Amino acid sequence: MVRWCTASLLSFTLFALASADSFENTAIVRTVELGGSLVQVTTTFAVKALEANSKVYTVALSDAEKQTASWLEARVKGQPNVLEVADRGPDSKFAVPFQHTVSFLIFYSGVHLLDISLPQPLGLNASTNIVLETIQTHATYPWPERASQQDPQGLKYKTDLLVLSPYRTAVQRTKIRSPSPSVHSYTTPENVGDFTLDAPVTKSGATITYGPYNNIAPSANEKFISKHQQPVFIHYDYEYPVLQIPKLKRAAEISHWGANLNIQDDIHLRNAGPALKGHFSRLEHQTQTFYKRSAPHVIPGLTLHLPAGIRNAYYYDLNGNVSTSRLRTAPSVPKNAQANQYSLLELRPRYPIMGGWNYSFTLGWDSPLADSASVDKTTGKYIVQVPVWTPIPASVVNEAEVKIILPEGATDVEFATPFPAVSSAMSTHITYLDTVGRPTITLHFKDLTERHAQPIFVSYNVPLSAHLKKPIAVAVAFFSVFAFALITRRIDLRIHKN
Ligand SMILES: *[C@@H]1O[C@H](CO)[C@@H](O)[C@H](O)[C@H]1NC(C)=O
Ligand SMILES: *[C@@H]1O[C@H](CO)[C@@H](O)[C@H](O)[C@H]1NC(C)=O
Ligand SMILES: *[C@@H]1O[C@H](CO)[C@@H](O)[C@H](O)[C@H]1NC(C)=O
Repeated sequence: MVRWCTASLLSFTLFALASADSFENTAIVRTVELGGSLVQVTTTFAVKALEANSKVYTVALSDAEKQTASWLEARVKGQPNVLEVADRGPDSKFAVPFQHTVSFLIFYSGVHLLDISLPQPLGLNASTNIVLETIQTHATYPWPERASQQDPQGLKYKTDLLVLSPYRTAVQRTKIRSPSPSVHSYTTPENVGDFTLDAPVTKSGATITYGPYNNIAPSANEKFISKHQQPVFIHYDYEYPVLQIPKLKRAAEISHWGANLNIQDDIHLRNAGPALKGHFSRLEHQTQTFYKRSAPHVIPGLTLHLPAGIRNAYYYDLNGNVSTSRLRTAPSVPKNAQANQYSLLELRPRYPIMGGWNYSFTLGWDSPLADSASVDKTTGKYIVQVPVWTPIPASVVNEAEVKIILPEGATDVEFATPFPAVSSAMSTHITYLDTVGRPTITLHFKDLTERHAQPIFVSYNVPLSAHLKKPIAVAVAFFSVFAFALITRRIDLRIHKN
C-alpha cells in the first residue's frame, strides 16, 4: 500500500510538473467591462512554449467564474477563427486514476480546467497571444437592494483578484471598467507583497486596475488559492435598466401549406434592478420622463429588432392586445445574405416596470418560409433555420424552452443546435385538421445572452403523400359539409304532406 502511494504520488507530481512546464505566461491582461445583466470579460494570455510541439494550452476558471460564464470563446489574437475548447470538468485529471488507491490525494481544487487547441503546434520558445472572451451573467446584484424612484441605481460585482493558470506567470493585471465614472467603492487587496511593491490597485476615471503583479507561480491549485486568492468587490452606478427574463417560451411552427414560419414568444420579463422602495408615483415618473431624466431602474419600454419581412405581428399581455406599440417592418431579405435589415418593434407596456417588478407578455409574427428554408440538393431534405431567440438587448434569459413544430408527416427529422442544449426531446403535436400530428422538437437552454441568438438547423423529409394529406383533409371536411347539405335537402322532414 505504501509503495502504491509513493508511486502514485510520484506520478502525480510528475504529471503536474509536466503540465506546468509546457508553457509560460509572459503576460496576462484581463479586462472586465461591467454592465447590468451582462459583464464582458476578455483575458489575453501572451504565452511562450517551453516544449517543442505544444498543442494544447490550458486555462483555469474558478468555480464562480465557470458558473457565471454563459458564453465563452477562445481565439488567437487578431484571427477570426474560434478555437476548440474542451472542458476537463471540475476535477483535475490527475486525481481520477488514483480514485481507489489513494483517496486522500483527491481534494477538490476549486478550479475548472479548459483545454484550448492551438491552430498549429508551437515550437520551443515560440510565442502566441490567446484571447479568451466570456460573457458573464448573474454576476452583479443591486446594491443597495432597495431604491426609491429618485435614487440612482447601484450595482455590485464580485470577482477574484488573480487570474489563475496552471503555468508560471511573469506579469498579470486586471482592468475593471465601470460604465459610469461614479464608482462608490472598490476593494484594496491585502498581502500582495509577494507580487508587487507598488500600490496593489489604482483608479483612473472609470477604470480600476489591479496589478501589475509579477512572478506568479502556477496557481490552479488549492494551495496557491488558499494562500493568495482573494475576492474583489466593485460598487458602481449603472444608468440603464437591468433586464432579466426568468422564462422564455418560443414556439416556431413551420407550415409548407401556407409557406409560413410562425414564431410566438411567451416572455416573462423581470426588472432585476433594486426593488422599488415605497409606492410607485406616476406623477414622479411623468415628471422625470418630461425632463428626460427617467430613473435608470425603471423600464418604460423596449425596442426590439425582429427579422425583416415579417407579417401579422401581435403583442398582447394578460389584459389583451396592447395598442401602444409600434412596428416598422423591413422588406424580406434573401436567405444567408448578410443583411443588416430588421423590423423595429417599440414595445410600450401598460405601465412602467419598476425594480423587482415582473411583466409577462406574448409576442408573435409570421414570416415567409422561403426566408429561412432551403432544400438540400443531394438528399432532397428541407433545411430550416430557427433562431434560438430574438434578443432583448442587454438581457439574460435564465431558462428558455424552444419548440419547433414541423409539418405534418415530416420524417427523418434531424437537428443541430449552435451550442449544447440542456435537454432535447421529440414528440408529436396535433392541431386542427391534422391527421397524424406534427413532429415537434423541444429544446431547453439556460442563461442565454445576445451572443446565443444563433440559428438551430432542422432538416426533414416531407413525402408527397404527407404534402397531400392536408388538402385531402380539407377536401374531406369540405365535401362532408357539402354532402350533408345535399342529403338534408333530399330528406323531407316535413311532418304533413300537402
Ligand atoms: C529557448 O530559450 C532559452 C532561454 O531563453 C534558451 O536558453 C534556449 O537556447 C532557447 N532554445 C531555442 C531552441 O531557441
Ligand atoms: C392590436 O393593436 C394593434 C396596434 O394598435 C392593432 O393594429 C391591431 O389591429 C390590434 N389587434 C387586435 C386583434 O385588436
Ligand atoms: C417576479 O418573478 C420572480 C420569478 O420569476 C418571482 O420570484 C417574484 O416573486 C416575482 N415578483 C413579483 C412582484 O411578482
